[in-house]
Amino acid sequence: MSEFILNVNGALLRVNASAEEPLLFVLRDRLGLTGTKYGCGEGQCGACTVLLDGKATRSCLIPVGSVEKARIVTIEGLEQHGQLSPVQQAFLDAGAFQCGYCTSGMILSATSLLHDSPHPTDGQIVEAMNGNVCRCGTYPRIVEAVRHAERLAAQGGNR
Ligand code: FES
Ligand code: FES
Repeated sequence: MSEFILNVNGALLRVNASAEEPLLFVLRDRLGLTGTKYGCGEGQCGACTVLLDGKATRSCLIPVGSVEKARIVTIEGLEQHGQLSPVQQAFLDAGAFQCGYCTSGMILSATSLLHDSPHPTDGQIVEAMNGNVCRCGTYPRIVEAVRHAERLAAQGGNR
C-alpha cells in the first residue's frame, strides 16, 4: 500500500491503495464516490467512465498509481453551486434512462464529446457514445439528450 494524493472533483484527497488498484475501486470503495459504476471491469461497457483531464476514460482500466497528476471528474463533480451541468439536465429532461445504471458513464462521455465538439453531428454522437452500453436500450433518447445538452450549453449552462 502507498499513499496517493488525487485531484478529484476539484479537491485534493489522500488515499491509501496499491499502485495497481483500478481507479474505479478507489473512487467507489475508498472515497465513497459510488456514482461511478462497475459493469464489466474490462473496458467494454463504459459504466465506469470518468473524466481524466477532460477526456472520457474507463476507470476500471486505470491503475490509481498512474493518475496522481491528473484532474479527475466523476458524476458527483459535474454540478456546480447546486446547478446541474447541461448534460445532466438534458438527460433528466429527455428521460434518457430507465434503470440508470449506465447513466453516469453516458453523461461523462457526452460531456467529453461536447467539450471537444460543441456542435457534433449525429455520426459524431453515435461514435462518441458507442462504447457505452445501455442494457435498457434507451439509445434514441440518449442521442436526443446529447442534442438537448448542446442547446443548454449554448444558452450558458454551468459547463
Ligand atoms: S466497468 Fe469499466 S468499461 Fe465496464
Ligand atoms: S438505463 Fe439501464 S442500462 Fe442504461
